Amino acid sequence: MERKQFISLSSLGIMGLLSKKSSVSAVSANSELASPYLGRIKSFQNKRPNNEEFWSQVADLYPRPEGITNLEHGYFSHSSIETMLLQHQFSERINRDTSLFMRREQENEIEKVRKIYADYQKVETDELAFTRNTTESLNIAIMGFPWQAGDELLYGDQDYGSMNEAILQVKERFSISLNRVEVSCNPSNDEELIRCYLKNITPKTKMILITHLINYTGHLLPIIPLLTAIKTQHPNIILVVDSAHSLSHTTTSIGEMRTAGADVVGSSLHKWLCNPLGVGVLFMNRKHIEKFWPLTGDTGTSKTSIKKFEHQGTRPVQSIMTIPNCINELESIGAEARLNRLRYLKWIWIGNKKALLNIAKTHGFDKDEEFIRMSGSLTDLTKNEKFSLLCPDDPERGGAISTFSIKFISPSVLASKLKDQYSIFTVAIEHPVIKGIRVTPHLSTRLQDVIKMNTALTDILGN
Ligand SMILES: Cc1ncc(COP(=O)(O)O)c(C=O)c1O
Repeated sequence: MERKQFISLSSLGIMGLLSKKSSVSAVSANSELASPYLGRIKSFQNKRPNNEEFWSQVADLYPRPEGITNLEHGYFSHSSIETMLLQHQFSERINRDTSLFMRREQENEIEKVRKIYADYQKVETDELAFTRNTTESLNIAIMGFPWQAGDELLYGDQDYGSMNEAILQVKERFSISLNRVEVSCNPSNDEELIRCYLKNITPKTKMILITHLINYTGHLLPIIPLLTAIKTQHPNIILVVDSAHSLSHTTTSIGEMRTAGADVVGSSLHKWLCNPLGVGVLFMNRKHIEKFWPLTGDTGTSKTSIKKFEHQGTRPVQSIMTIPNCINELESIGAEARLNRLRYLKWIWIGNKKALLNIAKTHGFDKDEEFIRMSGSLTDLTKNEKFSLLCPDDPERGGAISTFSIKFISPSVLASKLKDQYSIFTVAIEHPVIKGIRVTPHLSTRLQDVIKMNTALTDILGN
């Protein structure tokens, strides 16, 4: 952490807050699993999505910006205050010991973290590389495949922009052809989506890129049945999963995707793992490692070692060392509880009674008086003919992210209006397939934040 940022944390009173809540000095400056928050969160039995007593303690882990309600956590997730302090401690250690650390200790620290992250994702360490982000991880797969002219790559119409750039470049460079699947936002069932992919496969298809959680719409694809269906029928096609938004957001692990047939998975740990900026992961099934070229030249490492993809030069090890703390914090809450909370927050701002009731029934709080009162006070925005929800209607087909549009108001005008008149920060999406405002709550989002969004949109639609 830079001194300027550190001072600003102090001036926000965060240091004081921490010294009251936990003993930072008790957090050892190494990457052992240790979190002063762990016990406190664990003591909560009721992790229902509407237990505000529990969720406000979770929200307290994160810094809160002043004067603005941030509902744009899709770019990256902020780290907990504790993770930032740990990162600072690691930076101090590296800055003090300089190359003594880099030459003698860094490898050991990275390997400890690799093992912890691999266990968390239910994979083996020899299939896991730390990269800088999803862009790098998936470029390794897309650029590094030994393409032959005439090969085909199948991708989705809502895949991420940087991945589109990568596939356009390999098309130009290796004279391959691209084939695009149109992913319906509201499929009637999983089979419909699976059929979309299967029917576009040709004898020339060598690789399929699948986005697990589409960043524009928040659509969560049924990745396990999808991978299983494709792999069963086409065992030789390389299946690459863009998991930028799905790991540590949904309950699916890399290990489960591997078993279902994923050959490559890429993700960014500054997204839903809440790790500081600049660390990503690449999983590659060990049987494929030898045939992929690394992005940065590396003849010294064995061709069959995942580490040939990690030749980044000098890198911010302090941000790799914080990973165990992030895992610890998230695991103390629980994957299912987190996903349910994020879904709940999403459907509160939308005010959709049917979806909220579905969530409440699943968790047994549909008779909860506070929930009934609160859901009755929301406007169901989906009932307004000027409002279009550009995400799946089924709560199970999504997590925190969703996008909407309002007739006659362009996304950028609407985003500015929300920010300037209602102090709510969102992002305008201008994609060939999706145009609207993306809203992404976080574990740091409080109930009042999503109610504020519902009220603001009720007001805008009323005018
Ligand atoms: C679906 C998807 N893939 C890839 C990326 C790229 O992530 P990063 O910028 O961390 O490389 C993003 C970023 O938002 C994304 O949403």
